[in-house]
Amino acid sequence: MGDLIIRGMLPEDIDQIAHIESICFSMPWSKASFENELKNELAYYQVAEVSGKVVAYMGMWKIIDECHITNVAVLPEYRNRGIASILIKKMIDICRCSEISAMTLEVRVSNEPAINLYKKHGFLPVGKRPRYYYKPIEDALIMWRKVD
Ligand SMILES: CC(C)(COP(=O)(O)OP(=O)(O)OC[C@H]1O[C@@H](n2cnc3c(N)ncnc32)[C@H](O)[C@@H]1OP(=O)(O)O)[C@@H](O)C(=O)NCCC(=O)NCCS
Repeated sequence: MGDLIIRGMLPEDIDQIAHIESICFSMPWSKASFENELKNELAYYQVAEVSGKVVAYMGMWKIIDECHITNVAVLPEYRNRGIASILIKKMIDICRCSEISAMTLEVRVSNEPAINLYKKHGFLPVGKRPRYYYKPIEDALIMWRKVD
């Protein structure tokens, strides 16, 4: 793997991010959704770039003193190399610097890789949202992490 760069999302990343999104999710966000996120003052998106190619991204919304993680995805051929972990650590650092007291997210109850990733970084399961997802219909696990 070439050098890994973590940086904020730029307008020119959106085609690549939408491509990653379409590969990773059954209900992908559109390009327009990501364009709106660039204009959203509450939204923070980081991308991971390897040799000039965007291979992963992660987003969150800062809502008062809470962070809501919107999405995290890594291209399949770049998984299991710690890239999602680097992005999460970066988001935790951003939260620490912004007086955020806690972070939360939803994840499909069957998504073992993502649940393990979040647990590894201190997120705890606190409840479920029944039938939160479509394609296929599935419950969401709600996870929270305090920011110290
Ligand atoms: C979940 C995802 C983001 C993980 O990205 P990644 O860069 O491969 O993750 P990392 O290499 O940083 O792995 C960190 C930890 O996640 C867990 N993990 C990652 N892949 C896993 C797998 N296939 N099975 C089980 N646990 C896994 C492990 O706990 C791992 O720690 P370890 O290496 O010490 O065992 C990636 O698989 C992905 O993009 N999936 C599709 C999109 C998605 O489901 N996003 C989450 C939506 S809520």
